[in-house]
Amino acid sequence: MAQKQSNLKVLVIDDDPNVSWMLSKGLSDTYDFKSARDGIEGIQMVTTEEPDLILLDIKMPGMSGLEVLDKLNKVERRPDVLMLSGHAETEMIVEAMKRGASEFIKKPFEVEEVGIHLDAALERRKLKNQVKGLKAELKASRQEDMFVGESDSILKIKELVEQVANSELTVLIRGESGTGKEIVARALHTKSERAKKPFVKVNCAAIPRDLLEAELFGYERGAFTGAHKTKQGRFEVADKGTIFLDEIGDMPLELQSKLLQVLEQQEFVRIGGLTNIHVDVRIVCATNRDLEEAIVRKEFRDDLFYRLNEITLRLPPLRTRKSDIPLLINYFVNRYNEMYQKSLPDLSHAAIEKLINYSWPGNIRQLENLVKQAVVRNDETIIDELLSGPESQLAKLVAGGADKMSGTDLAGPFNPETDGYSLKKRVDVVVSAEEKRLIKGALTKTNWNRRRASELLEISYRSLLYKIKEYELNSSS
Ligand SMILES: Nc1ncnc2c1ncn2[C@@H]1O[C@H](COP(=O)(O)OP(=O)(O)OP(=O)(O)O)[C@@H](O)[C@H]1O
Ligand SMILES: [Mg+2]
Repeated sequence: MAQKQSNLKVLVIDDDPNVSWMLSKGLSDTYDFKSARDGIEGIQMVTTEEPDLILLDIKMPGMSGLEVLDKLNKVERRPDVLMLSGHAETEMIVEAMKRGASEFIKKPFEVEEVGIHLDAALERRKLKNQVKGLKAELKASRQEDMFVGESDSILKIKELVEQVANSELTVLIRGESGTGKEIVARALHTKSERAKKPFVKVNCAAIPRDLLEAELFGYERGAFTGAHKTKQGRFEVADKGTIFLDEIGDMPLELQSKLLQVLEQQEFVRIGGLTNIHVDVRIVCATNRDLEEAIVRKEFRDDLFYRLNEITLRLPPLRTRKSDIPLLINYFVNRYNEMYQKSLPDLSHAAIEKLINYSWPGNIRQLENLVKQAVVRNDETIIDELLSGPESQLAKLVAGGADKMSGTDLAGPFNPETDGYSLKKRVDVVVSAEEKRLIKGALTKTNWNRRRASELLEISYRSLLYKIKEYELNSSS
């Protein structure tokens, strides 16, 4: 029997009032019985009383149990129906089951027996609700991790993710900010056999240097002032799962050696500890920094780089896969309409066109934010405003005004009939022209202060010197 619960309502629909009376007498500590004398009253009471279960007699004057069942099937979220039936009604029982009754109880019955059936039905309902909840959760989490895109470059990434997810290879995910590195890292985890174990994310750039080691590897009590009790590091938490080291390019050098050691031995000691701790952790890293350049500048260990880089996934910038833009717009409009209970219609052709032609220096994150704002304000016309607003101007400046790359003006007039159709050659010409223009601009702006210009361009001083030579730039050119 179920434990004592309050207010579980059972609606008895039976022309014989004794049924409900008997059940009330015997089972009132668990259930609260309401009774209806015929089908019509019963159906009304389903709405007014909102019972948890229904006991329905098959044979009644007027509307039969089967007819009542049909009507009940039209009620949204109708409760489970248990049929009550006399002896000679086998065919009807079969029919009732077909129409969605979940069980039948033969008359005459013992009160106890009905109790057992009711308990079982409630248990089933509980399970069903749990499953429903889990399904909704799963759907929500899938939504979150949706990796939208059908361009060649994205299909290739999807394929690679499928291939390497289940390997133990250390994956390095590279790509500009907002290109979806974290989504890919999560996909590598959820598609692996480690999916049921933890996915632990550590942002190496966000945690202050001094705390990062403690965060990753934990510490013993008394290891330093303030270490009042032993704490597990993220590596231990991620045991049997995946650790995602985001912004790995920003990890301090000292820690890089410790990480290398963990990678090689799958073992480490907590700060202030003596014993080796063994973990089985899959490592996925991401960065938008130029690690090769960081190596040259002695800011990143080359041995760690090679060790992390067993497989590299390079996420393409959005401007190189414009065919995905309409898909992404559609996806985000639906998603945020749902999330904020809005109903922004599909964007107009003109708006989509504008979004396709834009350069998206902040990549998908920027597109997502823009669509989100349009949805929240329920107005697609704000897109113009947003695209020319100070934020996107800034983003453009940082990314080097690459949206103009589609024009022909940068690299001179272009005619494929005379210049050839080679995409690669054309892209090289356009990119070089844009690079040269930007470098020239930065040098002029800084009065040829090369150090400051390199900072502005976000490239190394050495690369700038190299490029000045390559493009034969000088202060009078
Ligand atoms: N292919 C995609 N489909 C749908 N949403 C995407 C896709 N790629 C990225 N997003 C969304 O764009 C936003 C940025 O993605 P994510 O955080 O993975 O980027 P990132 O590369 O890690 O950026 P950063 O380097 O700035 O950390 C997220 O909200 C993510 O859900
Ligand atoms: Mg990220």
